Amino acid sequence: MIEANGKNFLMHGKKYSYALRVTETGFLQQLHYGGRVTEADLKYLIEIGETTAPHADMNMDMAFDRMLSEYGFYGRGDYREPTGIFERKDGASMSRLRYQSYRVEKGAPKIAGMPHVRKGDETLVITLKDDFSDIAVDLYYTVSDDTNVLVRNAVIRNTGAEPIMLKRAFSFRAQLPNGKYNMLRLAGTWGQERNPEIAPIAHGVTRLQSLMGCTSHNTNCFMGILKENCTEESGECVGVQLMYSGSYALTAEWCKNGALTLQGGICDTGFGWELAGGEEFVTPQALLTYSNEGLGGMSRGIHDFLRERVINPAHVYKRRPIVVNNWEATYFDFTEEKLYPIIDEASKLGIDTFVLDDGWFGKRDSDWSGLGDWTVNEKKLKGGLKALIDRCKKNGLKFGLWFEPEMVNEDSELYRAHPDWAIRKEGVEPCRSRQQLVLDFTRKEVVDHIYGVVSKVLKENEISYVKWDMNRNISEVYSAALPAHRQGEFMHRYILGVYDLAQRLMSAFPNVFFEGCASGGGRFDAGMLYYFPQIWTSDDTDGYERTKIQWGTSLCYPLSSMSCHVSVCPNHQTQRITPFDTRGNIASLGAFGYELDLSKMTDEEKALTKKQVESYKRTDELILKGDLYRLKSPYEKNYFCEMVVSKDKSEAYVVGERIHGIPCDYNQYVYLSGLDESAVYEIEELKIEASGKALYNAGLLLPKLSDFSSWRWHLKRKS
Ligand code: GLA
Repeated sequence: MIEANGKNFLMHGKKYSYALRVTETGFLQQLHYGGRVTEADLKYLIEIGETTAPHADMNMDMAFDRMLSEYGFYGRGDYREPTGIFERKDGASMSRLRYQSYRVEKGAPKIAGMPHVRKGDETLVITLKDDFSDIAVDLYYTVSDDTNVLVRNAVIRNTGAEPIMLKRAFSFRAQLPNGKYNMLRLAGTWGQERNPEIAPIAHGVTRLQSLMGCTSHNTNCFMGILKENCTEESGECVGVQLMYSGSYALTAEWCKNGALTLQGGICDTGFGWELAGGEEFVTPQALLTYSNEGLGGMSRGIHDFLRERVINPAHVYKRRPIVVNNWEATYFDFTEEKLYPIIDEASKLGIDTFVLDDGWFGKRDSDWSGLGDWTVNEKKLKGGLKALIDRCKKNGLKFGLWFEPEMVNEDSELYRAHPDWAIRKEGVEPCRSRQQLVLDFTRKEVVDHIYGVVSKVLKENEISYVKWDMNRNISEVYSAALPAHRQGEFMHRYILGVYDLAQRLMSAFPNVFFEGCASGGGRFDAGMLYYFPQIWTSDDTDGYERTKIQWGTSLCYPLSSMSCHVSVCPNHQTQRITPFDTRGNIASLGAFGYELDLSKMTDEEKALTKKQVESYKRTDELILKGDLYRLKSPYEKNYFCEMVVSKDKSEAYVVGERIHGIPCDYNQYVYLSGLDESAVYEIEELKIEASGKALYNAGLLLPKLSDFSSWRWHLKRKS
């Protein structure tokens, strides 16, 4: 709900309020962001705000940065990190933005060419105008009564005739009052994505960013701000994430006014965007999620929001295909003869879809060649894709296919025909990561070409699933198609090209299910989820490592968005041996599948697989729609345990793993949250009945098992 009168602005979501006002000197002041307040409290909030507001009878510019403000400007009294920097023709870039007008619109704004939130109740748009240039900034706030997510972004307009260079164009600023805060970040590397780290925020600027052209394995595009006492189940926190998939920055800065300033958007390192007279620049949306129920409440709020309002509604709640993917089974070394047994076995085990990974096209016998040539390699696959698809159909399976649309090998027909389409700078030896170069997706003709060749394959074959990979970062940032003074636009234009291709393919093939991937989980973000309901979580499928990766990922992405596969042991990434059962149990907490040669499994493993697939089909509704409760962190203790509860609390699914067997490890309990306390539940596997209250307050004794063994419990409400 939005209450606005041109002087004061009060917004409410389910459990938070956000209050602003215009000071007598025309600045937009933030009065409150946190738990609910009422309109009657505004008077009181304004009184507090008055004490730090810059007044006309003082040097108002020098007083500005005492105030909590909604947009930071550069070179004029605001010494916090600016939200935007606007350089004019003469090189000057000082600015001072003051309130001009507001409007309230119904629903949520649509952003052409970029991912955006698909629905919302109302949107407040506040326009600020620069006193020293022709820049106007529209600040957007979309709120809905039934979510705790506030959607923010800024549109920067050049209202004059001369071009203005944007040197920074962040999406939002929000401030939290004095207090002690910790920052939660999801850090990692290939094979160890999204490990949560929580640390106190010290003075200065704490900055999470990617310069890689994607949101990266290293620091996910998410920042949690936790009040000192925030735990998994209680206390206040705010999750900040961008609906963006390119180079980004998120910052938290302790300011001299004692407040913590949060900002973020497109990474400004190397950025520059020429805004001609009359043009506007739309920044990516940021999602700010408030929780007073700890990190668990934050995650559940984000999960619901992404599922209900971001992920493609045509697919989000549809049963996900249970796939078998051939990558770890064969790598590049396959013919149809090697693949047929996998397909034949899959259908016997209840699997729905066979996904053919890298190596089916061009001269792709290794990672040195073939990328860019999206035509089937008939030397490897006699009868082409058709023969494989027929084999799948005969077995009642659907067919999925891997692409890496953004890439090219120098040893490819595409590169020989269009060497200038690869990102490289004449005279500079290109960096060849995984022996490949990145295509210049800032150029429309390149995106058009890739759309043409990929859509031809999708049109000519019965393909129901596409895995869209992206296996290297961008270097030698430069486009021969951009003039010198516009090279700073490259990174953002690149990701706009990716979004354009994704949108065109989704629109042309609405029934095809797209899975994102980037060397595992290197581009796992809310922007990608707008196009791809599911993303390959990590190349690391080890039955223990995955508890950590999936735990971290679940902090800000729903379980259904994580592709989780069972692979062989010793695990290809860690060499660890974990029980088959454990690998299946942990993978069942996401979009489930297999990544191995089914035909080489023992009879015992086949029987287990059949059981796992059947069991997954019992719980997949919960994974798609339920509420997640993280019960035992693999980062803290010797156990991992998570639980998903249906919205009506009539059923729940618990998965746990004991990391190491330890002697004399008595009295280890898990306390089941999220159940109806007054109801009685039956736990099928334990043949126990107990009330929701008892399961939460007295808990359940954890099984004493050996290293890396696991369990799953199904709970059903009896009364
Ligand atoms: C990446 C992906 C893998 C696989 C390979 C193929 O590493 O994460 O799942 O598709 O590429 O080259």
